[in-house]
Amino acid sequence: MHGSARADAVLFVVSAYTLSKRALDRLETAAAGAATGLARLIRLEETGPSLIDALDEMRAEGHRRIRVQPLGVPFPESLMSWLPGVMADWRTRGQNADTWLELGPDPATDAEALLAFASATLAHPDPAQPIADVAPRLGKPGWTDPPDFEFHLLVCTGPRCAIHGAAPFTHMLKDELKAAGVFDRCLTTRTGCIYPCNRGPVLALYPHGHWYRLPDQEATRRFVREVLVEGGTAEDLRFHTARAVRDSHTPKQEAAQ
Ligand code: FES
Repeated sequence: MHGSARADAVLFVVSAYTLSKRALDRLETAAAGAATGLARLIRLEETGPSLIDALDEMRAEGHRRIRVQPLGVPFPESLMSWLPGVMADWRTRGQNADTWLELGPDPATDAEALLAFASATLAHPDPAQPIADVAPRLGKPGWTDPPDFEFHLLVCTGPRCAIHGAAPFTHMLKDELKAAGVFDRCLTTRTGCIYPCNRGPVLALYPHGHWYRLPDQEATRRFVREVLVEGGTAEDLRFHTARAVRDSHTPKQEAAQ
């Protein structure tokens, strides 16, 4: 195993919100080629398996000495400081304490590796693309008008919501919106961290300014039906109201209306 005498499997972790299937395949191929034992690769954000799920699966496959290796230049420093605690938390679950876990270093702290990577970009076998004959444009024609919608749903797919199930939630929400016939009335935007990570999976609904925690399919279905279809507020699922909305409902203002 390169870089570790103690691990028999490597879980490469990537931080990338936008990544095509083709780009992910290339990374997986590189990860598999870099390790002599088992190698897996996940994204810490968006809709793939979470860090917790991946460690569960590797342990279930029999691996008891696992290295988690950040892959990416630069790798976010906030994630480097977050990963040890999450990994330690995983070891407290079930029988996981029997598994040796270690966290590999941030690749961007190796000056020689950075130099090698920068040099490789210039030594790429494909020639650089000349721009002289490219038509100038700053965007496509369709990138002018906002879509017409009633509800703007901001769905967090950040790394900390990911370990609380944001990936299945995102798919579940889409299915429930379609089943309830409100999919076309919603603009659903996947976001990075919007701060209440410990409550994940979370969703912020605008223009209402109401924030919800939707931990399972039943909660998601109720949110869609009670809030989007029936116009209610699903109080037991709501955990926050934006200040502008709170201020617009102060007794003083209501008295003046
Ligand atoms: S990662 Fe979702 S709120 Fe922080």
